[in-house]
Amino acid sequence: MDKFQIYGGARLDGEIDVYSAKNSVLALLAASILTDEQVILTDCPKIGDVYNMIKILEALGSKVVWQENSIIIDSLGVYSHEIPQSYGKEIRSSIFMLGSILARFKKAKAVFPGGCDIGLRPIDLHIKGLRELNIDVKEMGANILCDAKNARGKKIHLDFPSVGATENIMLASVLINGRTVICNAAKEPEIVCLQDMLNKMGAKVYGAGTGTIEIEGVKKLHGVEFKPIPDRILAGTYLIAAAMTKGKVYIKNCRPNDLTSLISKLNGVSCDILANDDTILVKGYEKPQSVMMIETSPYPGFPTDLQAQTLALQTISHGTSLIVENIFETRYKHVGELIKMGAEIVVKDRYAIVRGVEKLYGTQVFAHDLRGGAALVLAGLAAEGTTIVEDIHHVDRGYYKLEEDLTSLGASVKRIQS
Ligand code: EPZ
Repeated sequence: MDKFQIYGGARLDGEIDVYSAKNSVLALLAASILTDEQVILTDCPKIGDVYNMIKILEALGSKVVWQENSIIIDSLGVYSHEIPQSYGKEIRSSIFMLGSILARFKKAKAVFPGGCDIGLRPIDLHIKGLRELNIDVKEMGANILCDAKNARGKKIHLDFPSVGATENIMLASVLINGRTVICNAAKEPEIVCLQDMLNKMGAKVYGAGTGTIEIEGVKKLHGVEFKPIPDRILAGTYLIAAAMTKGKVYIKNCRPNDLTSLISKLNGVSCDILANDDTILVKGYEKPQSVMMIETSPYPGFPTDLQAQTLALQTISHGTSLIVENIFETRYKHVGELIKMGAEIVVKDRYAIVRGVEKLYGTQVFAHDLRGGAALVLAGLAAEGTTIVEDIHHVDRGYYKLEEDLTSLGASVKRIQS
């Protein structure tokens, strides 16, 4: 298992580009089998989750090739409606494939995706939504068997604005006769991005980004070349890295409007933030102040995917911070590791109280999940001495060559392959 060796103390300085969003690319890859014409996604990161999703597409019969940072998908030869067990367990977003496989084949077979270290990750809202479309969904042990021969458009209300369930229902309904309306839909930018690509393929989807999405079923979708949106969580991670190292970082090719909740929390408290159309200039403070309260909630609320990184920033801020993680049940696996570095944190259920300390100290820590692992890397950048972050494969699922990006900004981060 690879690890990062980080020698802390350097102030990040320089500029960095943001590549396409992991959580957009995964949904767009699922959408690519809705047509038998070529789909090209540009500026994509070569990360674990993307590779796993491509393996699923190839198992269904798609031909997928990389051309530099573009992914070229040819789904003319797709012949299978079954997501292989091994892949389904490997990656949560395999469940998004249900909707697009059903749209293409009118039937689908998948397995319940694994939970992971941030929570149970149920799929009841996905199944409820598909059944509302009159799709027959049978749960047989770990398998899910679906039959969409009688599917028809319907008005659906989601009990919770689930990102994945919203995407799955959009994908399942674009080729169904009739009109589907999703109420209490997720509003994340990745949902709007999916709508934009589907419409460029000839779909009729309206309202993404609001709580109500309308889909008019069409007969056929055609191929497309499409650039996914920049990764807001990656941009947010760099912003926090600059604040933690008292550095000065110019983040390019990003969308500050996707990060208003983070920017409004940190600007003037942890760092100075100057946001323009597609750039963010961050200047860290010598002594960042604690953010009194951070509460995660569905977009446009504070993103759960930046909770761990923001919590790491609070460990070396002046004062006390209360963090409430409302989206996932157990998304504090990084806390124990930060305490090993000298942080003062208590966790009770969804609540974490962080009392800022003068400094963190480098030591051996373990990544337990993607964003928690990224938080440990940021803590290592700010800590005195050397930090070894083990099990860095978690971080590689969502960050492409993070060590190279950080090194280009003046940090000392080495990947140790073992
Ligand atoms: C997406 O996961 C993202 N993943 C997650 O990013 C992100 O944290 C999450 O949305 C919330 O923004 C991808 O897009 C690939 P949800 P998803 O369905 O779709 C519960 C990262 O680090 N729920 O919005 O799985 C669920 O348990 C990852 O990049 C149900 O109860 O998230 C959770 O508590 C982590 N039943 C909450 O809703 C369901 O059927 C949010 O889940 C579905 C979800």
